[in-house]
Amino acid sequence: MADLWQNAMDHAVAAARRAGQVVREALLDDRKVMTKSSSVDLVTQTDQKVEQLIIQSVKEKFPTHRFIGEESVAAGEPCILTDDPTWIVDPIDGTTNFVHAFPFVAVSIGFSVNKQMEFGVVFSCLEDKMFTARRGSGAFCNGEPLQVSGQKDIQRSIIATEFGSNRDPEVVDKMFSSLRNVLCIPVHGMRGAGTAAINMCLVASGCVEAYYEIGMHVWDLAASSLIVSEAGGVLMDVEGKDARASADGGDARRGAKSVRCACVFRRSGRSDVPTDR
Ligand code: IPD
Repeated sequence: MADLWQNAMDHAVAAARRAGQVVREALLDDRKVMTKSSSVDLVTQTDQKVEQLIIQSVKEKFPTHRFIGEESVAAGEPCILTDDPTWIVDPIDGTTNFVHAFPFVAVSIGFSVNKQMEFGVVFSCLEDKMFTARRGSGAFCNGEPLQVSGQKDIQRSIIATEFGSNRDPEVVDKMFSSLRNVLCIPVHGMRGAGTAAINMCLVASGCVEAYYEIGMHVWDLAASSLIVSEAGGVLMDVEGKDARASADGGDARRGAKSVRCACVFRRSGRSDVPTDR
């Protein structure tokens, strides 16, 4: 049977590639930086321009579909997920990286129907890596299949995390305390690419065993959550419960802009990946 959403997915891949080109060109220009919730929560005209480019191109082809876009929500649009086909867009995941030309910047496009992710596209546009996943059909990077790490021992693992944009000292203390707890397990190392979507694609690729962050947004996770689960990984909240409900818009459904937490772990017990590192 023909895949009902293949057309939409092809469109998402093409739109992400075009958006990535705009991002790369913008890196050569002056980047006018504005702030959102705090002085370190950055946005640029390129974020807004790229989001509009993606949304306009989708509207022309799929006029009945709905959207949740990071910059549209910042501009006051509602962040509500319904059963309708919905495109969940982060035009530049890693805006701070983009501002500083730190070389990890992603265009993230997730697509949900009946509140379930159907496909996810993350284009790491400075590395020219196109990560894709279609529900039930696996995850890929530039067409090559992805599989999460099979490492079962956290002491032999690399864990990724991010610090977000809240610089309230109490919040920072809690982040440092979690960081210390994880680092002193001890783990092999901790990393952060500066973009949630790419961190999750690193988990899907098997080179990072887990990623955690408190207070991510639905557009940070929508596409990459499917890429991780299709690569054999799991998403869980701080209590160890399945976090896909948050990742694929559960919090958006409740009208919240950010999920409480997302931890992404490799699924243990896979025998087809070397475990000794
Ligand atoms: C942010 C990045 C960052 C993560 C934040 C995200 P943005 O997205 O992914 O790494 O720590 O939680 O909001 O603002 O660059 O699209």
